[in-house]
Amino acid sequence: MRCVYPGSFDPITNGHLDVIHRAASLFEEVIVAVANNDQKQPLFTVEERLALIREVVAPLSNVSFMGFDGLLVNFVRSQNAQVVVRGLRAVSDFEFEFQMGLMNRKLDPKVETIFLMPKEEYSYLSSRIIKEIGRLGGALENFVPAPVVGALQEKLRGGREIK
Ligand code: PNS
Repeated sequence: MRCVYPGSFDPITNGHLDVIHRAASLFEEVIVAVANNDQKQPLFTVEERLALIREVVAPLSNVSFMGFDGLLVNFVRSQNAQVVVRGLRAVSDFEFEFQMGLMNRKLDPKVETIFLMPKEEYSYLSSRIIKEIGRLGGALENFVPAPVVGALQEKLRGGREIK
């Protein structure tokens, strides 16, 4: 069975990677799907986010990655997948995830959402907090894969503000 793991991945964190590993051990194929969501004013372009994902999922033979526009359920259908995987870190994630999962099911009753819990030690991680730590000069090594540390530092050196 094929699943889609969608998100902004701006940038991918160790928490995302943990969920990808779990999904890859449960499903025959995992598609990491990067949303092209202008509303969030991302730090990295979709291409940059995909390039980072490419590096970190390279050892996983059943994981592919793709950008997508528009509705998630349409993308899921276009990939002949039926399952959406989302990570659930804490109760605070639940309300939004529940709303999104139910709405996606309303939009396409064949699409099932399942939630995977990342390792507890990653439950406090988010791309937003990572960017803030990076902007304020904190160490990132324990929170994001090595290529992402470099990419974040490069953005900083480039003088672009990290949001
Ligand atoms: O990593 P994020 O930002 O929590 O991921 C949110 C994402 C990309 C999964 C969500 O915004 C999404 O599915 N966007 C695609 C547009 C869509 O289908 N919206 C309706 C969802 S109910």
